[in-house]
Parts: sequence; structure tokens; C-alpha cells
Amino acid sequence: MKVTVVGAGAVGASCAEYIAIKDFAEEVVLVDIKEGFAEGKAMDLMQTASLNGFDTKITGVTNDYSKTADSDVAVITSGIPRKPGMTREELISTNAGIVKQVAENLIKNSPNVTIIVVSNPMDTMTYLAHKATNLPKNRIIGMGGALDSARFKYRLAEALGCPASDVDGMVIGGHSDTGMIPLTRLATRNSVPVSKFISEEKMDYVREETKVGGATLTKLLGTSAWYAPGAAVSAMVQAIACDSKKMFPCSCLLEGEYGLNDISIGVPAIIGKNGIEEIVEIELDDAEKAKLNESAEAVRKTNGLL
Ligand code: LAC
Repeated sequence: MKVTVVGAGAVGASCAEYIAIKDFAEEVVLVDIKEGFAEGKAMDLMQTASLNGFDTKITGVTNDYSKTADSDVAVITSGIPRKPGMTREELISTNAGIVKQVAENLIKNSPNVTIIVVSNPMDTMTYLAHKATNLPKNRIIGMGGALDSARFKYRLAEALGCPASDVDGMVIGGHSDTGMIPLTRLATRNSVPVSKFISEEKMDYVREETKVGGATLTKLLGTSAWYAPGAAVSAMVQAIACDSKKMFPCSCLLEGEYGLNDISIGVPAIIGKNGIEEIVEIELDDAEKAKLNESAEAVRKTNGLL
């Protein structure tokens, strides 16, 4: 399994590090446009191999896509991250051109690649990658929901006073401060609905903090977060590499599922060696359906800026 990670910034490097530590890929190629930057990050990471006990070979290249040839999976993290006070949507004018060019370069060298898009605004960048490459719809996946669900579980665990490994829950909809839909109705603590343990007021708090999870970190860090985004995308790469058929909410191109068409937005999907192996249509109640439609409208508005 060969994985390319485009963008050797904090998210890209963190993704490469988690992939290496889990040791399921033979090779990770880091690509960056800044001269020597990916080479430096790769060398630094390779110097942890004997300490962290992995055999994955990490190399870095400056904008040379020939070195990415025959990748099985590629992760696109390129573009600028948001600064405090910015929305993800405000990044579109800079990031759209970059993501389009990166996606085209990737498939030129790896015609069978499956692409995971991380760059923001993520749902629109995923849609753009579909339009730019015309790859089968199962082979382009947007990362947001896996990350948003991890942040949801963190907030649920905090409210419940239990470890995050005890809770289950997912976030669907657009990867934006207003578009995320944390499905509290379906969240459980070890299969018991979380409503048994926390008040509606606490549930509101969990929902709201989940939705602004990225913005909260951007304010604290002065730039966008990287550990949880890197861990979320590496978990998706692992599901493809190991053909594990794990279910992640992620941005999928919809063709009628959830009553939506010609849009990439977060819904649950089974991830395996073919990328998106199946979109799972869960029963939503009327309020959740209305929120998903509203979230889709907002994503379409951003898509209209392309
Ligand atoms: C975040 C970025 C990756 O939510 O969108 O941290």
C-alpha cells in the first residue's frame, strides 16, 4: 500500500505520522510546494522509526508528482488553513485552484488512486475534486464527518464524565460551524441512549460545542487544528488499506440518497478497499431531515462560488 499525502503542513505531517505509527502502509510520500519542506518533515519522521517501532518508509518531495506514481490512496491537505475568526467557506478563492490542480496531478500519476479530501471548505473541495477528475464517485471521499464525530464523542464523554471509548455517536451534514448535525438522538453510552444520563440542556451544550469544535481550536492555537484531523484521516486511510468496511460519516457525492443530488455532504458510509463501498441511509426524524436539507443548501451556496 502506497499513500501520498499532499501538503506537509501540520495536518499532512500528523496524518503521515499516525499512518506510520500504525504500520499498515509500505510507503508514505509527502508532497509540498515549499522547497525542502516535505523532505525535512519526512526525514524528521523517519528518525522516529526506531523509537516508535515502525517500518513504513516516509519520503518527501517538492512538487514532484512522478514520485507519487501508483499510489493506492492520496490525501489532499493543501491550501491555506483558517485564522481565528474566519469561516472555512472564506478559504474557497485560494484553495479551489490548488485542490483542482493537485487532484489532476494525482490522477495523472496514479489512475487507480482513491482520494481523501481534507482541504477546506471540505464538502465543496470534495465536490470540486469529483468535477475535476471525473473519478468514479466511490473514489473521492471528504474527511469532515470522521473528525466532527470524534469531537462529538469528546464532548459527550466530557458531559457524561466517562471515557470517550464508552460513547458512540456521529455527526452528519456539512463540515461547517452551522452545517454540522450531531445526532444526539442516536448517541449512546455503551448502547444506552445518552439522554438517560444527561439533561436536554447539557445535550444542547454538547451539540453547540461540537459544531464550533474547529473554531474553538483555531482561536486557541491561532491556526487550524491538526492532531484530530490527522488521526481522523489516517483512520480512513487505514480502513481502505485494510479493507476493514468500517463506517464513517464522510462527505460523499450523493445521487438521490437522503433525497439529495449532485452534492458532496457528510453521511454515513462503509469504507473499504474500494473507497466508499456503500452509503448507509439511516432513518432521520423530521427535524434532522430539515437540518440536513438546510445544511445542503449552505453547501450548494458555497459550491456556487466555484
Ligand atoms: C478542522 C479543520 C480540519 O475542523 O476543518 O479542524
